[in-house]
Amino acid sequence: MSSDALSHLSPETKPVLAQSLEERINWVRRSRWIAYPQASAILDRLEDMLAHPKQHRMPGMRLIGDSNSGKSRLIEEFTRRHQPNDNYGGDHIICPVLAIEAPPAAKETDLYRQILTRLFKHVPSSPGAMRDDAIDILRAIQVKVLIFDELSNMVASPNLKQRQSLNAIKYLANTLEICIVGVGTKDLERVVLLDPQLKNRLRPMELPPWKLSKESRQLMMSFETLLPFPEPSDLRSSQTTGFILAKAGGLIGEVSELVTAAAVYALKKGRPKIDEDAILNCGYQPPDM
Ligand SMILES: Nc1ncnc2c1ncn2[C@@H]1O[C@H](COP(=O)(O)OP(=O)(O)O)[C@@H](O)[C@H]1O
Ligand SMILES: [Mg+2]
Repeated sequence: MSSDALSHLSPETKPVLAQSLEERINWVRRSRWIAYPQASAILDRLEDMLAHPKQHRMPGMRLIGDSNSGKSRLIEEFTRRHQPNDNYGGDHIICPVLAIEAPPAAKETDLYRQILTRLFKHVPSSPGAMRDDAIDILRAIQVKVLIFDELSNMVASPNLKQRQSLNAIKYLANTLEICIVGVGTKDLERVVLLDPQLKNRLRPMELPPWKLSKESRQLMMSFETLLPFPEPSDLRSSQTTGFILAKAGGLIGEVSELVTAAAVYALKKGRPKIDEDAILNCGYQPPDM
């Protein structure tokens, strides 16, 4: 086959065509990163924050999006780009970007506990010591951007508890002069309303649902370049993109699941591309909406 005939595939996908069925299926199912304009804009903003000189009021961000809209994957990509340095010979790793999962309920001590356990540190029993130890270790690893994923979970807790946790986050930010990123669903808006100062500090960025557009068709094309089929599936046609987005509720996580299921179905059937039958009959179940 001439290389032109494979122009629908990315360079790293082309050699996969020659691999066994099992290897091709594993390739399709592996975790991948697809760049798209809004993700790039958010990553750029995060890079700016990382490069920001230390000052008392550091910039911050709140990253809002539905469940399965790609928030955690984006944070994972940012942390992958800034992996900790082992700092052999020093006492601690150097970790400018640290992402932790916020505790399921708003509780100040759980916040510190989460930080300490994430960094494999002993958790003392007194709340004051927990806070001091959390600050000491964050300072020692030279954190610059501290990310709390799932921060919107706090919304279910009493307002007083939420305020205490927000205060604790603000205290960490001010004491260490670091940038804070809060990640969550729309509920995060309600949480930060409780602290206008923090709300002001955490600038909103959103991962909105995908609609049929040039960008979403480009996204489909990006998916397609990673799928080892000898023929183009033309997922980027308005009709196919529109159909997939409607089924997936505009969520990148659902799009990824549908496209993966359709690809695996087509590979197992020995088809040269993802066809309509694969999209319709691959067994993908849309989320309840
Ligand atoms: N940029 C991306 N490239 C490829 N796949 C992605 C991307 N973003 C999200 N996904 C897919 O969507 C799934 C859900 O994304 P995730 O970040 O966990 O959503 P959220 O944290 O918003 O609930 C991921 O497991 C991944 O399969
Ligand atoms: Mg997530």
